[in-house]
Amino acid sequence: MDNHFPFFEYQDGELYAENIPVRELAKQYGTPFYIYAASSIRRQFTTFQEALNKVCAKPPLIAYACKANDRLGILKLMNNLGAGVDVVSVGEMKRALAANIPASKIIFSGVGKTERELEEAIEAGIRQINIESEPELKNLAIAAEKLQKDISVSIRFNPDVEAGTHDKISTGRSEDKFGVTAERIIHLYKHAAETKYLNPHGISMHIGSQVADPRYFIPAFERINDLVHQLRAEGLSVTELDLGGGLGITYRDEPEADIEAYAKLIKEMIEPLGCQLSFEPGRYLVGNAGILVTKVIYVKETDVKTHVICDAAMNDLIRPALYEAYHTIHPVIQNGADIRTVDIVGPICESGDTHAKDRPLPLPEEGDYLAIHSAGAYGATMSSYYNARVPACEVLVDGSDHTLINRQESIEQQIAREKTLLS
Ligand code: LLP
Repeated sequence: MDNHFPFFEYQDGELYAENIPVRELAKQYGTPFYIYAASSIRRQFTTFQEALNKVCAKPPLIAYACKANDRLGILKLMNNLGAGVDVVSVGEMKRALAANIPASKIIFSGVGKTERELEEAIEAGIRQINIESEPELKNLAIAAEKLQKDISVSIRFNPDVEAGTHDKISTGRSEDKFGVTAERIIHLYKHAAETKYLNPHGISMHIGSQVADPRYFIPAFERINDLVHQLRAEGLSVTELDLGGGLGITYRDEPEADIEAYAKLIKEMIEPLGCQLSFEPGRYLVGNAGILVTKVIYVKETDVKTHVICDAAMNDLIRPALYEAYHTIHPVIQNGADIRTVDIVGPICESGDTHAKDRPLPLPEEGDYLAIHSAGAYGATMSSYYNARVPACEVLVDGSDHTLINRQESIEQQIAREKTLLS
């Protein structure tokens, strides 16, 4: 079997997470649970960093988009690698600070930052706030005036381009809620430059996620070039460019985004602008560092289907239900059984709770473990308590070591909390 997930490999028919048999971890931690491979994260980060360092005159800031996976254990690892963080809420900012990420490496993105969030970000002294609209800029000016504290600002550009990805994760088209057109940016930038405490220093951009081919960035990079020249022609100083994230990974057998090709585009199209660059990769750094391990509860045969019913559900990993996302699923122990076409489903009371439809799989037995791959990004962070199910716990593996890095509140704890509210 071709393995696209190098830190999750079979040895003698048994799946390992780095040096540890997944079955042993399953027995210790109980299913369902996530495993993250630290070595995979380090490798992805280094690959990204080295490719970009080679082409950039000044080392860029790699601001990990922690919406992909914001666990402190992961953020600490990122901090040790020298990463910054891109946050989209004050909650994420607090997580980043708790993991000792320096405020000077935190970028705050997002279309709906509240007054309170803007104030907290200014107070924390973060590197930059990416502004996405005129009313938001107005609120930022009020917050900075109130606190009498300077804040650096980038304005998010909406270049009106297709990213060649799923509709729900495309963010750079004119109809999307994100960013501002070039014309409006010039106006906003000037306005910010004239506003006390605001220091507009650059442009940010993020055209979408799971972008498989770096060529999709070309039109956006062309447009950002024009925009920077226009701003400079107006006498405005542009020293920072934040190019967002979006690089795709392998879910099935598609190659992950070619980072060398991406770096080449940066070198040719962006570097001549002479700016300090930052990037916001999320999925590329952590997506394939994670698996979700689940146990088969029942194998249910009907007249038309075989349903493999597992103890992980859409409350643990919502991507297949939300985006019809494909996640590779492998048995933890290769049992030599005949391959059957099955639906791999969870126990939640809706048909959308399906991890895979019509998937060939060596027919498992009740009690067998399955590994759902590519679950390191947008897995645990999008989990919920739907159906009063406690989301999967999370384990970080590093070589032969393993650590529980997150366990969610139990139902008993929730009941106790609600009871105090009612009393
Ligand atoms: N920067 C900004 C401003 C973003 O909005 C995002 C993702 C990123 C960076 C990181 O993108 P990445 O490198 O991870 O592609 N829940 C969806 C993905 C939503 C992405 C939203 N924004 C999924 O499971 O596919």
